[in-house]
Amino acid sequence: MGFYEMGCVFFSSFILKPRFLGGSMSVTMQEMHTDIGLVNTIVARSSLSFIDGEKGVLEYVGYDIDDLARQSTFEETAFLLWNRRLPSNAELADFSSQIRTNYDLSESMWDMIASLPRDASPMHALRTLTSALALEDPRADDSSEEANTRKSLAMLAKMPCFIAGFDRHRKGLDLVRPDSDCSLAENFLYMLTGEKPTESMARAMDICLILHADHGFNASTFASLVTISTLSDMYSAVTTAIGTLKGPLHGGANQGVMLMLQEIGDIDAVEPYVMSKLASKQRIMGFGHRVYKAYDPRATYLKTFAQAIAEDTGNINLFDMSKKIESVMDREVGSKGIYPNVDFYSATTYFSLGIDLDLFTPLFAMSRVSGWTAHCLEYLANNRLIRPRCDYIGPHGQAYTQINQR
Ligand code: ACO
Repeated sequence: MGFYEMGCVFFSSFILKPRFLGGSMSVTMQEMHTDIGLVNTIVARSSLSFIDGEKGVLEYVGYDIDDLARQSTFEETAFLLWNRRLPSNAELADFSSQIRTNYDLSESMWDMIASLPRDASPMHALRTLTSALALEDPRADDSSEEANTRKSLAMLAKMPCFIAGFDRHRKGLDLVRPDSDCSLAENFLYMLTGEKPTESMARAMDICLILHADHGFNASTFASLVTISTLSDMYSAVTTAIGTLKGPLHGGANQGVMLMLQEIGDIDAVEPYVMSKLASKQRIMGFGHRVYKAYDPRATYLKTFAQAIAEDTGNINLFDMSKKIESVMDREVGSKGIYPNVDFYSATTYFSLGIDLDLFTPLFAMSRVSGWTAHCLEYLANNRLIRPRCDYIGPHGQAYTQINQR
């Protein structure tokens, strides 16, 4: 062993191992380090998605995201994440058919959709309906791999019904039942609008689903792992993840981008808008990322894609405004590694597809459920309870006084 390798072993045994939550080594309180926001802590190993934040690379199980977006389908991507290999023709046909036979809901779930308050947020509705699936599963707490895979597939297949069904319910429209002749993307657009989408619209939706399917230990995936690591159940893990995805610093940013574009309204207003936000230390939605300090590869792809769809659907003004925001941001904060993330151009894409703003984040969930469940299945194979510590900074030894003496 050379000097360099010896140095690495020495370094990793003293510095890296304590940073592995879930590792076997225990250290004293004094030896622990504080890492607010888990910025520098690796919490587990995974072979699902690889991100190189410096070079702007994303791979699912070693396949470049660009190749998958151009050549794969969402169903194939989900198979890849769950099985860590691409399927054969026969396997994909069988997997897709299993998904399709799971599209529909029980009558009581359809009734539940129809009973939800019409003014509820679609993310709250999606979280509640996903959680409710456990109520009618007699094996909800069966933690065998077979049962967990079955539950994952059911959630992935049924989310389009939850999102499209709730949207039609709140608009006072008849609920459209799923069509098992359609792919998941096609079926979603069909249930949402009541009309079969064109091939290019269905493909656009499919590509968005592929691009959002997985992304390492992002906040919602990590949240799902915390839940599953307690040996709770898959429905609870995905419900946790949906609640986490909803926040504007995570999946909620795509809706924030669209609201921002509407607030700006005109390309000439972009420069003063961005400058005044930056001057008052406010965030521009759809920019920046915890891991990427280069261009988010999903945004690279979506940018070209958003332009084509915006042109086709008469929304090119939105795309032009987005490009202008990007150029001002690049000039002002590009040197800090702040670039558009996946949410920035997905907003224009979804809007051009005619999707309501508050459905953008549910769509993210409809795709990411493949990654959440894949990570839970992977983590469970070698489970360890995720239970970090806090750095207590409060008082000690306080004398308890009776309530009437305070
Ligand atoms: N607009 C303006 N400035 C920004 C932005 C932004 N969107 N993002 C980061 N910065 C600046 C911060 O002000 C900070 O500057 P400073 O060092 O001068 O104080 C610096 O960049 C670092 O920011 P942090 O918040 O420390 O970075 P962190 O890794 O914690 O945050 C996050 C990442 C939350 C994504 C952040 O970039 C952000 O708030 N972006 C806007 C919301 C968004 O688009 N979220 C979606 C992320 S992708 C996803 O979840 C699917």
